[in-house]
Amino acid sequence: MKITTLTHETVDQSLAHIDQFAIDVLTGLCSKPKNIPAKYFYDDIGSELFQKITQHTDYYPTRTEFEILDEIKNSLPEFIGESEIDIIELGAGDGHKTKLLIDGFLKNDYKVNFYPIDISEKAMLLLEKNIEPNSQLSVHGIVAEYFAGLRYARSQSKNRQLVLFLGSNIGNFNLAQNQGFLRRLWKALNSGDFTLIGFDLKKDVSKFLSAYNDSAGHTKEFNLNLLRRINNELGGQFDINKFQHFGTYNPKLGAMESYLLSNEDQEVYIKELQRSFHFQAYEPIHLEYSFKFLKTDVELLSKQAGFNVVNHFTDRNNYFVDSLWRVTKESGT
Ligand code: AVJ
Repeated sequence: MKITTLTHETVDQSLAHIDQFAIDVLTGLCSKPKNIPAKYFYDDIGSELFQKITQHTDYYPTRTEFEILDEIKNSLPEFIGESEIDIIELGAGDGHKTKLLIDGFLKNDYKVNFYPIDISEKAMLLLEKNIEPNSQLSVHGIVAEYFAGLRYARSQSKNRQLVLFLGSNIGNFNLAQNQGFLRRLWKALNSGDFTLIGFDLKKDVSKFLSAYNDSAGHTKEFNLNLLRRINNELGGQFDINKFQHFGTYNPKLGAMESYLLSNEDQEVYIKELQRSFHFQAYEPIHLEYSFKFLKTDVELLSKQAGFNVVNHFTDRNNYFVDSLWRVTKESGT
């Protein structure tokens, strides 16, 4: 398998990347309430911790989506009706769910060109172990942010395209970000292309609370890892033991929220930012939203961005939906 890395192609870009992290941490820790953007969870250690979360019984989304994809893997090729396809995946992770879909296409005599995109090189190396190329399957990994990777993948191949955005990654976006993201995706694609997007559905709050406070403490470690990352990459002096993980559901927003709370009144110096930050006792740092959806929300989002819903695929408990949309454009391209 071929891997292209767009995140640190040159030394300059790598520096720009670190600068961006520093700027976002500075902005976040100067905000009231304090925050750190969720996209920084996924350094190599964070990606590994996330994989542990997905394998824990308390975290239902991954296995539920796995069941859905296993169920639809043979009918999905029929919905698309081609003989060759480019599957482009945003945030592919270790690729174990996507393997099901790829096998379904191959079984239905498709030629498949798979372009997994992920911000973590480590995740890409795990994926490489899970998905073996063959005469009917080419695999070209792209280490990049979503749209840089998508642009690059589209420059490489010109078949009918299916963009995968699984796992309710979309739940990290608020409504405005979500609308912007989907419209941008629609713009990037041709009329007749498809996208399959995973949405975590609204359900009993107790399910959310255990999924985001797993009993093994993986979620807690995943959140604290952001402070470790600041320590390692920006010369931060966070004492990890002086912060606690707090995950809660906000029914007004319809979202799970993750916070780190300062256990005491403290000052933390960050060398790269040349200053320290004050934390009051029990002051929160907001880390993540995981928005939850109704099927009607999914339909509205799709329509607003210019897609047509082809089908909703759900599990028997209605915990999760993978929604297949087709791009429609008046001019035909
Ligand atoms: C990868 C964004 C889908 O929101 O459920 C899991 C991340 N955070 N546990 C989610 C996450 C805490 C996950 N997504």
